[in-house]
Amino acid sequence: MHSILVAALPMLVTLLAWTAEATSCNATTPCPASAPCCSEFGFCGTDDFCLGGCNPFASNTVSSCRPSPLCQDATHTFPDNSRILSNATFFDGNATEYDWILDTGAIMNTNSSGGELAMLLTEANGGTRLSSTRYVHYGTITASLKTGRWAGVVTAFITMSDIKDEIDWEFPGAKTTEGQTNYFWQGVIPAGPNNGQTETGLTDTFSNYHDYTIDWQPDALTFSIDNKVVRTIKKSDTLQNGVAQYPDTPSRVQLSLWPAGINSSAPGTVEWAGGMIDWNDPDYNSAGHFYALLKSVTIKCADPTKPGPNMTSYVYGKNATANQPTVAFSNGSTLLNGAPNLALSGLHGIAVAIVAGLLVLFHVL
Ligand SMILES: *[C@@H]1O[C@H](CO)[C@@H](O)[C@H](O)[C@H]1NC(C)=O
Ligand SMILES: *[C@@H]1O[C@H](CO)[C@@H](O)[C@H](O)[C@H]1NC(C)=O
Ligand SMILES: *[C@@H]1O[C@H](CO)[C@@H](O)[C@H](O)[C@H]1NC(C)=O
Ligand SMILES: *[C@@H]1O[C@H](CO)[C@@H](O)[C@H](O)[C@H]1NC(C)=O
Ligand SMILES: *[C@@H]1O[C@H](CO)[C@@H](O)[C@H](O)[C@H]1NC(C)=O
Ligand SMILES: *[C@@H]1O[C@H](CO)[C@@H](O)[C@H](O)[C@H]1NC(C)=O
Ligand SMILES: *[C@@H]1O[C@H](CO)[C@@H](O)[C@H](O)[C@H]1NC(C)=O
Repeated sequence: MHSILVAALPMLVTLLAWTAEATSCNATTPCPASAPCCSEFGFCGTDDFCLGGCNPFASNTVSSCRPSPLCQDATHTFPDNSRILSNATFFDGNATEYDWILDTGAIMNTNSSGGELAMLLTEANGGTRLSSTRYVHYGTITASLKTGRWAGVVTAFITMSDIKDEIDWEFPGAKTTEGQTNYFWQGVIPAGPNNGQTETGLTDTFSNYHDYTIDWQPDALTFSIDNKVVRTIKKSDTLQNGVAQYPDTPSRVQLSLWPAGINSSAPGTVEWAGGMIDWNDPDYNSAGHFYALLKSVTIKCADPTKPGPNMTSYVYGKNATANQPTVAFSNGSTLLNGAPNLALSGLHGIAVAIVAGLLVLFHVL
């Protein structure tokens, strides 16, 4: 029923959304049909609520979110800001048009070494975050960056899935010879010995570019600095009651500079970040902002199954077993005004039969 309504009456759906309240959503209280998409922040809505970060398991149906744009090998540099959409509300789902979205905050192109991007933090802007328009479902991602150097200011390079599988490089600014790695499975800290780890002895991360790599493969996750492996987590070591607590769902690449040392942060977060931010810091006074610099981001996709020629995106299917979602390739449009995401919609039996020929289905290992 719902799919037919979306196909036939998109304008009505939009009108209904206007009258809908800002309902919150989670896996046990999914969104209503009138505002079907659960945003990454846990609110129901339409339009950009259905794009990057939309949680399929907290949305009205598992296919309410738009399909997630497919991974593409790329080396992103920043000679200018033309590949970055500066206002996320204007994104229509076309990942060919933009590589990155400025979700919040401000950027500046300094171009001092042939194209580098500054992510800015001011007391007023609350920090800057860039998200890739495309997703990665396993791959090797390297960011060449210079971190901030101020207590309470955190530079981050992470991958984040729509159900909150997360892989992190983080740099609390008080210690510019250190970098921290971490990972989460569906928003929880995996049990066992694999919590955060700190790498020490780096040459000043504020003054020097380093290549930080997340090598995320189906069987192991490896972190490197300047091509030197510093940490490996095997999927087989994350088993908990027979479930691998290992990131395994398509993820966006995100880069950010965020204020951890502020009053609204939990005391533990402030301590972790090296204390409260000093908004009277001479660097802040002279530049008018704190900043971190990004030189390049290289993405090499490693989908466990090669996508067919006409595949455009990833979609979620029903869970294979409890809390183990399936992920499939889809040839459906990623655009907001594209055809409805038929794959695995409402009428499961029929939908699966129809899409069997269109989708390469595989279970997440
Ligand atoms: C983005 O565009 C919307 C719609 O024009 C506007 O309301 C909003 O203030 C803009 N956001 C920023 C950060 O400029
Ligand atoms: C997506 O953007 C690209 C590049 O701007 C453009 O060529 C293409 O027509 C757009 N696709 C759609 C369906 O709008
Ligand atoms: C940035 O530097 C590159 C390489 O020197 C140059 O090609 C490009 O035009 C510059 N961009 C701007 C916006 O000045
Ligand atoms: C943070 O809290 C301290 C102590 O209560 C207060 O002096 C300071 O003004 C607060 N800062 C902000 C930005 O609210
Ligand atoms: C892929 O698209 C091309 C051009 O639209 C079409 O000719 C071809 O049959 C499609 N292949 C598959 C496997 O759907
Ligand atoms: C499927 O997995 C998701 C993600 O863990 C979970 O939120 C949801 O409750 C699961 N659904 C069922 C029916 O097990
Ligand atoms: C997906 O592929 C099927 C079969 O090749 C085709 O009928 C359908 O039109 C395609 N959908 C899109 C959005 O290209």
